[in-house]
Amino acid sequence: VRVHNFCAGPCTLPLEVLEEVRDELVDFRGSGMSLIEMSHRSPEYEAVHEEALSLFRSVFVVPADRTILFLQGGATLQFALVPINLLGEGQRAAYVRSGTWGKGALKDAAAWGDAYAAWDGEPVGFTRMPQAHELEIRTDTRYLHVTSNETIEGIRMASFPDPGVPLVGDLSSEYVSRPIPWERFDVVYGGAQKNLGPAGLAVVVVRTDLLERVRTDLPSYLRYDAHAAKDSLMNTPPMFAIYVMGKVLRWIEGLGGVEAMAERAERRSGAVYDAIETSEGFYRSPVDAADRSHMNVVFRTPSDDLDAAFVKEAEGGGLVNLKGHRSVGGIRASIYNAMTDEGVDALVGFMGTFRDANG
Ligand SMILES: Cc1ncc(COP(=O)(O)O)c(C=O)c1O
Repeated sequence: VRVHNFCAGPCTLPLEVLEEVRDELVDFRGSGMSLIEMSHRSPEYEAVHEEALSLFRSVFVVPADRTILFLQGGATLQFALVPINLLGEGQRAAYVRSGTWGKGALKDAAAWGDAYAAWDGEPVGFTRMPQAHELEIRTDTRYLHVTSNETIEGIRMASFPDPGVPLVGDLSSEYVSRPIPWERFDVVYGGAQKNLGPAGLAVVVVRTDLLERVRTDLPSYLRYDAHAAKDSLMNTPPMFAIYVMGKVLRWIEGLGGVEAMAERAERRSGAVYDAIETSEGFYRSPVDAADRSHMNVVFRTPSDDLDAAFVKEAEGGGLVNLKGHRSVGGIRASIYNAMTDEGVDALVGFMGTFRDANG
């Protein structure tokens, strides 16, 4: 029996995709072997690789002048590779310190070069994103790094800033779930394991003309240009993750693409926020209304004990992984692309029942 899995990542995947993978796992399209037993130089795998690249481009509406890279090391490796590849002599990097992940990205950049917080959300408890006028960009700033959605705190940039320097975006928890203004971004990256597939794959989108200007005095895996030159086949890629992501992208395409995912996310997170707002104070969201995440809905009941009871009872009803991140507590429902409407309806229904019993 499948449960409704609200895990923040890795997370639920479309059942149709899982079933297709199961059917192909032992004998991939009549080859007599599994895709994951093949050479990454085989024509079968190369076709899967090319298809995933081209679907990522078409479904996420990535412009032709951007290069898409499939890398390992998660979004975390990109915390390092972005400054390593982009920061030149005398340049510095600005970061929106918007939550756990923005904080992590800044910390890693600062370990490599000159990086600073253009805005710090810690004094407000990471409950909102900055307004444009609050960003302080210093001279010689190469880029402003933003985390479009803070997965742990449940806050989202409703619109992206236009600060006069290029943006770099960590889209990990909103990948291919909202359209983005590509012209403002030099680099966009994210792990695939929330909206797009299994763990083990990070997708990085770089402005192609930058590849001629990135640092080249680096070990090869750290160089964006080296990966680009080999179509992300410089070394053995995470073949299984790329293969499954291709299927998820095909599934998203069938549902109407990134715009449809964005509408779906707004509608479904909206249903949970409505349940919070109409609960007469039983449930509360710590996040400013304008910046509430469409992916990770964070909320609390009147007490820690009731939060724990909520999570436990929900689990009994097949609604799993609703516990908030260990660093913040509370309840968190992650409603990524592959979450079903039934799952969201069941959660909203359970919220009502639990409130009636405990309110
Ligand atoms: C916004 C954000 N950035 C970065 C990460 C780290 O990603 P990874 O585990 O792929 O390194 C996560 C993981 O949850 C995330 O949500």
